[in-house]
Amino acid sequence: MERALTTSCSLRCVPFAHPARHPRAARAPLLRAMASPVDQSLNPLVASLRPSATVQLTDTAVRLREAGVDVVALAAGEPDAPTPAAVCAAGIEAIASGLTRYTPNNGTAPLRAAIAKKLAAENDMIVDPAQVVVSNGAKQAVWQALLATCGPGDQVLIPAPYWVSYPEMARLAGATPVVLPCPAAEGFLLTPRRLASALTPASRLLILCSPSNPTGAVYPEATLRALAEVVAAHPRLLVLSDEIYEYVVFPPARHVSFASLPGMAHRTLTVNGFSKAYAMTGWRLGYLAAPPTFATAAGVVQSQCTSGASSIAQHAALAALGLGPHGGDPVARMVAAFRERRDYVVARLRAIPGVVLDAPDGAFYVFPDASALVGPGAEAPGFGPVPTVAELCRYILEVAHVVVVPGEAFGEPACFRISYATSMEQLEKGLDRIAAALAPEKLQRPSDVAA
Ligand SMILES: Cc1ncc(COP(=O)(O)O)c(C=O)c1O
Repeated sequence: MERALTTSCSLRCVPFAHPARHPRAARAPLLRAMASPVDQSLNPLVASLRPSATVQLTDTAVRLREAGVDVVALAAGEPDAPTPAAVCAAGIEAIASGLTRYTPNNGTAPLRAAIAKKLAAENDMIVDPAQVVVSNGAKQAVWQALLATCGPGDQVLIPAPYWVSYPEMARLAGATPVVLPCPAAEGFLLTPRRLASALTPASRLLILCSPSNPTGAVYPEATLRALAEVVAAHPRLLVLSDEIYEYVVFPPARHVSFASLPGMAHRTLTVNGFSKAYAMTGWRLGYLAAPPTFATAAGVVQSQCTSGASSIAQHAALAALGLGPHGGDPVARMVAAFRERRDYVVARLRAIPGVVLDAPDGAFYVFPDASALVGPGAEAPGFGPVPTVAELCRYILEVAHVVVVPGEAFGEPACFRISYATSMEQLEKGLDRIAAALAPEKLQRPSDVAA
């Protein structure tokens, strides 16, 4: 933004301010005018917004690489697999055949029909295509769902660890995020009891994310059913079910859509998309499937913000849905690779004294607890004190040149997130480095001091 402002200013100013053509006296009023203060205040809702930690860290990794540092980035939230060839071919075909115009605001008719068909076949969700809003990524779908349903005075219940954007989006909508801690001991899952104890008349939206970013936890059907019973007792309460990692689940774990549970269809807004399932992060395509009133409202928001998603991406998404049930062979291969990497990463991390984690059932993240390694007395020679896991992540970045994301960004400061959506070679290198940096001879534990 800063650069854009400078550029547009210099484009406008250079012809008048050129020293060869304008003596100092003639330029003075202009310079005074340029220097006059401009109200820099921002919309208070935006001023309090925190930038996405994951996006920032990914940018840091790119910068370090550009500076010649051999960085291992284990921070990215995107599959490393290529977009399936048939999907790419459909994108090219869309351009070649002139599908390069605005589409209907809520998405093309064939794509919305195909999404409704997929939801019926795979998710036990009966939705009319009119209830589907195709957006520029699932992120936009989450945002529009929130904006359509919540406002000042409403509480948005967010189980922690959470995806970084939920609380910020709730605030941006003018609503109040209410964070519900879900510790590792409970599998990072919201319990019905915790939900019941947090509900108030102001509770408007519960956000569930399964499989979860950042923990990889997958809600068992029995837990979802018990949560649905609590939800059913609160007439004002809606549920936003973020199912963007739906396909990345390791059996016997199984994905269950919240909207498919008894009585939940009319109060659940389901978000899904193509980014994670089909390695299509750059195509920017997601969708919302919601009860008619909320789908219509989300579509109106979209009509005033971005209009329809890319015509080319929508045509490609049709091809993605045509790859077969649950994404067909390309997705099956990708998920098998993730499983192998998950097992490898979990085993390597468990071998580091002080690092604690369970093997998650889905997504492509692990979320180990490293709180035993930090605190008063924890210190790395040449780096300094390591009082928190956030500092530990900075230590790992500076000393081991591995990018991981501190758990505080996800509402759980005891942990950090590793994305294993990268090659085995990079994982081996990254974990060798992390293991070396966290070895007791390199990192003095708080307990060492106490002992
Ligand atoms: C839980 C969750 N929801 C939504 C999104 C947004 O996905 P998209 O890239 O389709 O906007 C992400 C992306 O990281 C995510 O992790």
